[in-house]
Amino acid sequence: MKVQVCIIGGGPSGLLLSQLLHLQGIDTIVLEKHSRDYVLSRIRAGVLEHGFAALMREAQCGERMDREGEIHEGFYIAHDDVMDRVDLNKYSGGSSVVVYGQTELTRDLYEARDKMKGNVVHNVADAAPHDLKSDAPYVTYRDGDRLVRIDCDYVIGADGFHGVSRTSIPKDVLREYERLYPFGWLGVLSRTKPVSPELIYSKHERGFALCSLRSQTLSRYYIQVPLTDKLEDWPDDAFWAELKRRLPQDVAAKLVTGPSIEKSIAPLRSFVAEPMRYGRLFLAGDAAHIVPPTGARGLNSAASDIYYLYHAMVDHYKKGDDSGLEAYSQKALARVWKAQRFSWWMTTLLHRFPNNTPYDDKLQETELQYLFSSEKALGSLAENYVGLPF
Ligand code: FAD
Ligand code: PHB
Repeated sequence: MKVQVCIIGGGPSGLLLSQLLHLQGIDTIVLEKHSRDYVLSRIRAGVLEHGFAALMREAQCGERMDREGEIHEGFYIAHDDVMDRVDLNKYSGGSSVVVYGQTELTRDLYEARDKMKGNVVHNVADAAPHDLKSDAPYVTYRDGDRLVRIDCDYVIGADGFHGVSRTSIPKDVLREYERLYPFGWLGVLSRTKPVSPELIYSKHERGFALCSLRSQTLSRYYIQVPLTDKLEDWPDDAFWAELKRRLPQDVAAKLVTGPSIEKSIAPLRSFVAEPMRYGRLFLAGDAAHIVPPTGARGLNSAASDIYYLYHAMVDHYKKGDDSGLEAYSQKALARVWKAQRFSWWMTTLLHRFPNNTPYDDKLQETELQYLFSSEKALGSLAENYVGLPF
């Protein structure tokens, strides 16, 4: 089989690119390792930049997001039993974010691909890109006993952090930058009314906590936990009790608890692989970079990669102009590193670091005091949170 663009990975990055290219008459196939149900059972991001929301609309996938997603013009940072509000709208010059779950967004993308008879293959085993430095790359995968070969012009590695694409770039070409944090986030999804209409990021001496939501009846909460903790250590009651301890008293008093419908622990990691292009392979999203979730940048950084790739591919196929493809890695990485900086900053500002000295703790407190005493500092936070321009 021959297609123009073969996309490895059917997460949000791969599906969005496939949908956008299809609308421009560019032929794609998406190869996904897991079943659709599995992909849709992963509870991940919840906050979309306005630029991402615009890209979803351009992909003709924005209808439900616009109907059911919530526009948020601010969020709270709780510390020392007070709540300070970050007015995103005011400090970003009129911008906001959309609260809409990654699961729903992925569902919308799958539905759109199905409607247009897009080629999305699930449960592919052993996907492997070949001849990436030639003009005729191809991808193979196993379907039961059968080895399937897809010939293409370009391969997109949108297969997440544990995918095969990045590892097919030779070690002497790829440079990896990484920072591991000494904690993870324990997340709980519950069918309860959210404790606050806007997100609350809470800095507390017992550790960070986040109150987020998916809708007015579906809450998403997180607490910072040591990397050694296991899900068995956190029955629901223990989770709710610990969350309450880390929130201002009046907020804790309002918290509605209920059975968890999903519970998971995610380690926090910062990671960037450079370059994001090797011959005819282009990496996008978590395949090339990871951020700790504190700044809500992960999925949004994936979307900016897709924006650059989409325009570069359209210029190539429609105008014979390869400048976008040539510049892709450099352009994408420039924005990726800004998201890395912001996520590192927000993580450092709000978490409890087990090895911090009293001096480090004082600096952390001062950073927070400075933030809420300076309109310029709030402006910097707001412009990064709503998303820097593509
Ligand atoms: P993925 O979603 O990882 O998709 C990759 C796909 O490739 C998967 O479906 C996988 O099954 C498939 N795959 C893997 N290997 C292969 C293979 N060998 N062959 C074929 N297919 C393969 N981001 C935000 O912007 N805002 C947030 O609020 C936010 N919150 C988060 C909260 C948590 C708890 C976590 C864990 C993440 C959060 N993120 C957030 C990050 C966000 O979820 C990711 O950045 C996003 O999923 C990246 O999308 P992707 O398509 O690049 O990768
Ligand atoms: C979420 O709702 O899952 C979420 C929101 C904001 C973040 C991270 C995760 O910074």
